[in-house]
Amino acid sequence: MSTDHLKVEVKLHPVPKCLLDSSINPTPHVSSFEQYKKLHEESINNPTKFWGELANELLTWNTPFQTVQSGCFEHGDVAWFREGQLNASYNCVDRHALKNPDKVAIIYESDEPNQDRKITYGELLRDVCRFANVLKAHGVKKGDTVAIYMPMVPEAVVAFLACARIGAVHSVVFAGFSSDSLRGRILDASSRFVITADEGRRGGRTIYTKKIVDEALLGCPEVERVFVFRRTGSPVPFSSPRDVWWHEEVEKQRPHCPPEIVNAEDPLFILYTSGSTGKPKGLLHTTGGYLLGAAFTLKYVFDYHEGDVYGCMADIGWITGHTYIIYGPLANGGTTVLFESTPVYPSPSRYWEVVAKHKITQFYTAPTAIRLLRKFGREHVDKHDLSSLRVIGSVGEPINPEAWEWYNEVVGRNVCSVVDTYWQTETGSIIVTPLPCATTTKPGSATFPFFGIDLAVLNPETGEEITSTEAEGVLAIRRPWPSMARTVYNDHNRYLDTYMRPYKGYYFTGDGVGRDCDGYYWIRGRVDDVINVAGHRLSTAEIESALIMHSSVAEAAAIGVKDDIKGQCVHAFTTLKPDSGNTDVKDLVAQVRQSIGPFAAPQKIYIVSDLPKTRSGKIMRRVLRKIVDGESEQLGDLTTLSDPKIVDTLIEVVKNT
Ligand code: WTA
Repeated sequence: MSTDHLKVEVKLHPVPKCLLDSSINPTPHVSSFEQYKKLHEESINNPTKFWGELANELLTWNTPFQTVQSGCFEHGDVAWFREGQLNASYNCVDRHALKNPDKVAIIYESDEPNQDRKITYGELLRDVCRFANVLKAHGVKKGDTVAIYMPMVPEAVVAFLACARIGAVHSVVFAGFSSDSLRGRILDASSRFVITADEGRRGGRTIYTKKIVDEALLGCPEVERVFVFRRTGSPVPFSSPRDVWWHEEVEKQRPHCPPEIVNAEDPLFILYTSGSTGKPKGLLHTTGGYLLGAAFTLKYVFDYHEGDVYGCMADIGWITGHTYIIYGPLANGGTTVLFESTPVYPSPSRYWEVVAKHKITQFYTAPTAIRLLRKFGREHVDKHDLSSLRVIGSVGEPINPEAWEWYNEVVGRNVCSVVDTYWQTETGSIIVTPLPCATTTKPGSATFPFFGIDLAVLNPETGEEITSTEAEGVLAIRRPWPSMARTVYNDHNRYLDTYMRPYKGYYFTGDGVGRDCDGYYWIRGRVDDVINVAGHRLSTAEIESALIMHSSVAEAAAIGVKDDIKGQCVHAFTTLKPDSGNTDVKDLVAQVRQSIGPFAAPQKIYIVSDLPKTRSGKIMRRVLRKIVDGESEQLGDLTTLSDPKIVDTLIEVVKNT
């Protein structure tokens, strides 16, 4: 593969000097590139010593582990810290509450400004215990899966940790998913319990959370109990004895609940994500390894120190929220910000008001938000005091150099470190990233592997590793790391097929990657049928199956199209059944919103007479992508199309839609 495009000149950004000045800033955990290199080498050459020591330093174990790591990718039986026993909620709450009960654990910045609330470690411990007792009183047991469909309120954090406290497995569903999606996840995980709220608030709008849960549960006869937190107080349908109020139940419980000590490899949670095929996969993360990954990356990637205020703007329904709002900051005994609103509510200054108000030291968001705010102009940033910031991070999709430079200059004022962090739901925690006080960055590159991560660039066709420094191929990982997902819930074979079998002996990320002459990694985006819309993962197959559920649709093909703000957006092509009359495109969009959620809605739908197919009937999405991208001149070899004439018709339809 050609590597010519890697030779493009890029601007180097050395670590800002002030970050290394210990008279104004804390002494960094890693303060030079040499130190990073040395530690990375040690982590690869002697993983047992490296991870063993770290696990004892960062986590509190009830029973020590004997075996640091066992199993391998090929057999799909990776395990970490076997024999070890611990409890995640103890590690995230009790041990800090015992030391410093008045330290703020959570700063809740609610949708409406000036309604923020602080929760100390002491309070969090009592709240978690009370709610853990509620769960127990209603029959939730160790190993049960509990669905959580909650807005961004502190009680959502309490719900996560209460599950962890009693050894139940949380399965959080992002509250932007529709009732159909929620139902699918409840059924797949066999959850008999759901935790939700009456309503949510976001950007001044109401989200009818309980109503959506009720719709979802019409098809879930196994669900025994729904715990409803009162967020807005509006009247909502309530069905006794299935539904119970959070506030009434916690009243009945003691604020003490001994943590259930679990094995390191016992599951902590399931989180669904989209893959190449239709049905979302429930990735399963285990307690010891995941928690170590969360704690370790938070400390080093963001150079976290005691007294810092850490602000991750993600939603708790995604992996970024799990790891960098909840488990990472709390495992370190830190103060975490829970932000309920949007970057533009009530104005595009909101993020910066929040940074200034709470004196946030590390700020973490997605490129889509950065691009949006850049469009609104720097005056919204400039009027706020952002001097508390040291590290500003980006995650979820490739960040274009223009957005990177703006983030660095306008938000970071050239005195912060920008960390472009690459990882996935499957990896549990960050795997490719700069270290804020050690790495010279290049805008658009996630730079180098984190400690313990052994990257390989493979030739996608032959599966062979490209060993030259300059390389272009697909990104794979050579050896296990603690926070990797252990399986797909109830479908281990799918786990093996997706990640372990494509390239024997490697974990396959599904992303294309380049490595430049200095060894920097450049993530190119998905090489499979996954679309990344504003950092939300969707599969083409998922969108297509949603469209096909509409009574008029015969066939559908979805593609990802470049979007200036969202990175990608969805376009879909459909053919209609005969006699389907005048089908309105709006109804088709509504169908996708209904089956997946509003964030998946296609930006454009083209109704066409036929789709480009190979003679064996496979839809050639490549052709559709090129037509939409205005590259109809470069469609490549069309001889495999069963009806090459269709191409001209498609070009015409796209032009006129
Ligand atoms: C993409 C989000 C480029 C990538 C934590 C990956 C990125 C998918 C970056 C995982 C980044 C994430 N640069 N691409 N810094 N971070 N991605 O599971 O395609 O929601 O495979 O996890 O997002 O998305 P997921």
